[in-house]
This record gives sequence, structure tokens and C-alpha cells, in this order.
Amino acid sequence: MERELALELVRVTELAALASARWMGRGDKNRADDAATTAMRAMFDTVSIRGTVVIGEGEMDEAPMLYIGETVGNLQGPEVDVAVDPLEGTESVAKGHDNALSVLAVAPKGHLLHAPDIYMEKLACGPELKGFLSLNDPAAVTVRKAAERLGKPLSDLTVMILERERHAGLAEELRSSGVRISFLSQGDVSGAIATAFPESGIDLYLGSGGAPEGVLAAAALQCLGGELQGRLLPADEAERERCKKMGVGDITRVLTLEDMVGHDDVLFSATGITPGAMLGGVRYLPGERAETHSIVMRAATGTVRFIKAVHHLQNKRLPDRAS
Ligand code: FBP
Repeated sequence: MERELALELVRVTELAALASARWMGRGDKNRADDAATTAMRAMFDTVSIRGTVVIGEGEMDEAPMLYIGETVGNLQGPEVDVAVDPLEGTESVAKGHDNALSVLAVAPKGHLLHAPDIYMEKLACGPELKGFLSLNDPAAVTVRKAAERLGKPLSDLTVMILERERHAGLAEELRSSGVRISFLSQGDVSGAIATAFPESGIDLYLGSGGAPEGVLAAAALQCLGGELQGRLLPADEAERERCKKMGVGDITRVLTLEDMVGHDDVLFSATGITPGAMLGGVRYLPGERAETHSIVMRAATGTVRFIKAVHHLQNKRLPDRAS
């Protein structure tokens, strides 16, 4: 893939973030999501790829655009798999909470896992811990290994998990081990990515969240030299069938980074919608302008760009505005 593609892709997440941010704090997560999806879909038409959505807004019969299998791009560039989450953290935007992102990843065709929209158990870490941990270990063993490897006491190790009822046992196990827990209300893509940025103060990310978000985070960690391991958690027979239909063979197996993102030429772009530890949110400026903060990365070279952009909103093709 051409390196210029990274800069084309950041324009896609920027426009989706600008569109979605209009709905920040308005209590309507569906319209916030629709705005992001419509803007992202429109901007993809300008990008030089022949893309197929492998992770998107749902199956063809349940999502009007960016559905799984949809073709995106101007059909003039390389054939690629596309994973998107136009609005990652719908509740966060609706309630005006932190950490909502617009996010996408692109890899050569056939190299992104077609993850079904079910839960996935995840273990994410930065480069220093890559190769030293296993999702098969109990959490208490994982944190002990991580603390040893990082050369710090357990009491200085910070583990991020989503604050959910289903994580009560995990939180208890972590507390008994003596580590610190940083609870996240929404948005586990940014939680997993945080482990690759020492300044975030997050050493490890554990717990279950969406499987599609797992693949997106895996793409980011591939670019950052970190690691994400996942195990699909189908809740019933129907979900097990969906896993099989999407080509996941042994459902119980731990999926490695390579299983999720099987190529080192992966591109990842994310733009903040509401503020987070890694990226600022959309900020409106005088004169019908808005500022966005994005990260765009390429695994092949390891280049990580933080892009702050100021947009003149009258020049943007934004879908319906929240009045
Ligand atoms: P949405 O943007 O689809 O609302 O997902 C937000 C999110 O927090 C994800 O980051 C996470 O993977 C998933 O929801 C966790 O699901 P749940 O809220 O059911 O625990």
C-alpha cells in the first residue's frame, strides 16, 4: 500500500468525528452513530482503494451503509480489507463522556479477521510485555509476570478494565493481587491502545469487550509494536454459528495478533470525538471552525503521526447538523 494512503485515511476519520461531535451530549447515540457513519461512508469515495468492509456497522440486512461486504473507496487503488467503527463509544458521545473515537484500519485483502459482533476476552500490552504474557493464564499470574518483566512492584502496576458487572470477579482477582485498576466506562479500543503509550500510565488491558473493537485495537497495536490476544466468547449456539460462518475455526483458541491482523502492512487511523488520554476531542473554534486530533500509523514502517487539524466547517460535506 502506498504511504500516502495514511493521509487519505485520516481525512475519513476526521470527517466522521466532526459529524458525530455535533451530537455530543444530546442523549441520542443512534443519531450520533448515523452521522459518523454517513460522513465516513461519503469520505471513503475519495480514497484510492478497492476496499471491502470486513468489520463494519453490521450485516447487509441490518446496516444501510458500511455493512460487512460493502465495497468502499474510489476503486482505483490496492485491494484491501477495511475495518471501521465510525463511532467507537456511542454512549460516551450521547452522554458527553470521554474516550469516543472514530476509527478504521486497512490491510491487504484477506488479512483482517472477520470478527463477529460478539464479545471477546482480551489481553493487550505494549512492546515491553509483548511475547511474555498469555491469555490462558489466570489474571493473577499475568500481572505477576508483567510486574516482573517491567521491574516494578505489583502495587505500581495499573490494569485497565471496562467497568462492568461481568468483570466483578476479574476486578476482585486483580485487587487481591495488589495491582491498581483503572476503570473505563466505554471505548476499549483506546483502553487497549493506551498500553503502548507509557505516558498513559496503563500497563495492561484485560477483560471482555466487542470482538470487532478487538481487531481494530489489534491493528493499532501491530503498528505500535504491542500485542493483543483475544478469545471469542459466543454466548449461545447462534453466536457460535456466526463465528463459524465468518471463518473462525476453533472458537476456544486464543487468537494472536497475527490471527487478527495477518500482515505487517496495516494502516490505522483514529480521530478523537470526545477527549481522551491519547487524543483530544473535537473542539469548536470561533469563525465556524473546529479542531480535530488524530493518530495515523503504518505498521510497515512503524511511523506514528499525531495530526492536529483546523477545519473550516463551511467547506466540509457534513451530514445533517444537530440543531
Ligand atoms: P459502541 O460504540 O458500539 O457503543 O461500543 C462501545 C464499547 O465500550 C466498546 O469499546 C466495547 O468493546 C464494548 O462497548 C463493550 O460492550 P459492553 O458495553 O456491552 O460492555
